[in-house]
Amino acid sequence: MNILILGSGGREHTFAHQIAQSEHCSKLFVAPGNAGTAAIATNLPVAVNDFEAIQATVIAHQIGMVVVGPEDPLVHGIADYFAEEEALQDVMLIGPSKRGALLEGSKERAKEFMLQHNIPTAAYASFTSESVAAGKEFLETLQAPYVLKADGLAAGKGVLIIQDLEEAKAELEEMLSGKFGDASATVVIEEFLDGIELSVFVLTDGQHYKILPTAKDYKRIGEGDKGLNTGGMGAISPVPFADETLMKKIEERIVKPTVNGLKEEKIDYKGFVFIGLIKVGDEPFVIEYNVRMGDPETEVVLPRIKTDLVSLLKATFQQKLDAISVEIDERAATTVMVVSGGYPEAYEKGKEITGTDTIEDSIVFHAGTSVKENKLVTNGGRVIAVTSLDEDYKKALKKSYQNIEKLNFDKMYFRKDIGFDLEFLFQKTTC
Ligand code: AMP
Ligand code: GLY
Repeated sequence: MNILILGSGGREHTFAHQIAQSEHCSKLFVAPGNAGTAAIATNLPVAVNDFEAIQATVIAHQIGMVVVGPEDPLVHGIADYFAEEEALQDVMLIGPSKRGALLEGSKERAKEFMLQHNIPTAAYASFTSESVAAGKEFLETLQAPYVLKADGLAAGKGVLIIQDLEEAKAELEEMLSGKFGDASATVVIEEFLDGIELSVFVLTDGQHYKILPTAKDYKRIGEGDKGLNTGGMGAISPVPFADETLMKKIEERIVKPTVNGLKEEKIDYKGFVFIGLIKVGDEPFVIEYNVRMGDPETEVVLPRIKTDLVSLLKATFQQKLDAISVEIDERAATTVMVVSGGYPEAYEKGKEITGTDTIEDSIVFHAGTSVKENKLVTNGGRVIAVTSLDEDYKKALKKSYQNIEKLNFDKMYFRKDIGFDLEFLFQKTTC
């Protein structure tokens, strides 16, 4: 079968890396892809939101499966487009329908879903420009810090955590008057949950589900989790403190009710659910749903899945996930992101990258890279993720860091402390 992956980051290179190894994959295409995907698949200059161009590509290359990487095309209804177009109905599109994708596309909708299906999450209320005064009154009933979330997609920037009440009120007003455009026309105000974060990944066909490896990502640009938020500077899988007891609670209280909720509401969902969780004491709460895999979490989750990925995705589309078992590599996986100097603010592109051919015993997943005049150059903020596997995360991290030393480009930056908190967190949860 010919397969098309939509997207251009480290996540998509990881999907391509796994899918290219499958005996069920004949020709592999990535749109638009990066220099890493170009080395193992055919890149096509098609934008992920251009459904007509994607349709033409699928037909021209006799594509049998489309794996959607980012959330944008899902929120814009690519699964519905495929289901409605006669010529595309047999194509296995992996990703939820527009109604399913609203779990990520609207924070208010996600909260309503959780409330409806009794899924533990922070208490909340939502407000629009007509209810600013009520919003401010609601803030007065909460304790600091105050959590304000733009309802819609805001490129990962729409969540603000503010210490001061007056500042929170002013921020609410700014958000409701368009700070994040339409995305903040509605603002969700939430109770602050004090705990430790982890992510759980689920593959569902809308009826059945498989829990994939857990992961923890490091979102801030600076060491010690300081500074601006990024797409993610590194990740580790499994999460050492996600023991059997916690995972059982997560499955019973969160995963099952989520899949049952989708079923009850007759939401067509064949794809990944990325559940952002916070563990408060010993209890898990949902912070957010994403309707796709995470980046860089994919770079540590997929390499640990030993089961053929194409078979898994095919079973997802055919609603036969109950008939397949998922085999997980017991080893730990770590990834460290190498980024352009200045990221997540302004940065330069087009810097030559050297050393990728000298990497030993790690996998180089390209994110923002391209080839210009036969040279590998930077083409984004996050440039390369170096993933390693070993018997524990410390050994794996050592490999990632040893290999990163061999990479070079002008103004290259990476966090040297990925996983820094794990030992402490592990002790905190076990004693
Ligand atoms: P989100 O985009 O909803 O995942 O929020 C981004 C980040 O804000 C999360 O990864 C958490 O670190 C933090 N966060 C969101 N909601 C809460 C909450 N209710 N309590 C504490 N921290 C939160
Ligand atoms: N690493 C966080 C995300 O993919 O949303």
